[in-house]
Amino acid sequence: MTSCADSTAAVGELGEWQRALRAQFPIVTGNPDLAYLDSAATAQKPRAVLDAVETYLTTTNANAGRGTYPWANRTTALVEQTRDQVRSFLDDPAPQRSAVHFTSGTTEGLRTIARDWLPGFLEDGDEIVVPVADHQANIEPWLETQRQLARQGTHVRILPMPYQQASGDYDHTALAQLGGPRTRFVAVTHVHHVYGGDMNIHRIRRAVGPNAVICLDAAQSIGHLPLSVADLDVDFVVFSGHKALALPGSGAVWARQARGPRFVPGGWSGTPNTVGIVSLAAALDWLRAAGPDRIERWTVALASRLTDGLRHLDAYEVLGCQTSLAADSPVQRRQGIVTFRHRGISSGDLGFILFSHGFMVRCDHHCQGGAGERSESVRVSLHVYTIVEEIDRLLSVLATLG
Ligand code: ALA
Repeated sequence: MTSCADSTAAVGELGEWQRALRAQFPIVTGNPDLAYLDSAATAQKPRAVLDAVETYLTTTNANAGRGTYPWANRTTALVEQTRDQVRSFLDDPAPQRSAVHFTSGTTEGLRTIARDWLPGFLEDGDEIVVPVADHQANIEPWLETQRQLARQGTHVRILPMPYQQASGDYDHTALAQLGGPRTRFVAVTHVHHVYGGDMNIHRIRRAVGPNAVICLDAAQSIGHLPLSVADLDVDFVVFSGHKALALPGSGAVWARQARGPRFVPGGWSGTPNTVGIVSLAAALDWLRAAGPDRIERWTVALASRLTDGLRHLDAYEVLGCQTSLAADSPVQRRQGIVTFRHRGISSGDLGFILFSHGFMVRCDHHCQGGAGERSESVRVSLHVYTIVEEIDRLLSVLATLG
């Protein structure tokens, strides 16, 4: 079990590395009295991403896939190179067979799969597993596919993903009993946006067997921890650029294309978000150099320090898993998201109080699906630029409200 001692060890080992990286975020260093603790909503951008965007716009800006002059050719090449970078960042074992489609973010990516791919894959009587206590963006598209198919006379059954109440993790044992050979599509989340746990995707694969398609919402994991599609054996990975240090309006769907038909997004393609794609390329480069394994160690250690501190404050209830254990353990590993409530102060009021002390956090339902939490909560979410002093200062302020 990780503890305060482990977070002290991580700070000792990674402190110098982290200080050098934090110094690359102008909005962070420019606001020393503020603590940005809302990285699960959107992440801050390092200088390398800002520079890449400015350089592109001041030297190369043109449309992609249209035009034969150098700026247009260079833009087309940048878009294609970024596709390869996404494959490589995800540790794609067969890049010649996968597809990468750029989107405006996770929500559009999931919708595109639900609208353009899933209806052609499912047959009458099939079942799809929907994670009903995850983000609404990973619930609504699959329900819409079911409605769309029903209008055409094809009836598919929704199997609500079972959860373990205490930890917020999926109930992998119940899932194995729930599904059968007709369970052909399983929508899951890599890191839960409220509970903060790594949702144990290896155990999902074991529960649903080798033939089901697994679609992974990686919105909260991309750049936060190593993500290997070879290791996880998933079929789709969907993520947003803005949570991975790139610009809002960027994102991608990676599709393996081994189980089921090829993924070909429909509709008119239009002009791609070239600036967003350039920012994504720079962000993935930056993250790769920083090392998602080290980013994970850093944010896991800080989150653990926060949950440990909160456990000693009776006025607070922490949502999701209480402990952080090894990856793929039967108990979850908490990543850099900690969500909690004060037993006597509303979460909205707590957000205002925290901002008066310089802390920026998210306080609401966090767009969680209907089977999720019934009341609002305060979410603290970390990234590589978060420092231990911010966590300790936050705990001190929370203690004064106990
Ligand atoms: N999906 C983002 C969040 O969880 C916006 O805050």
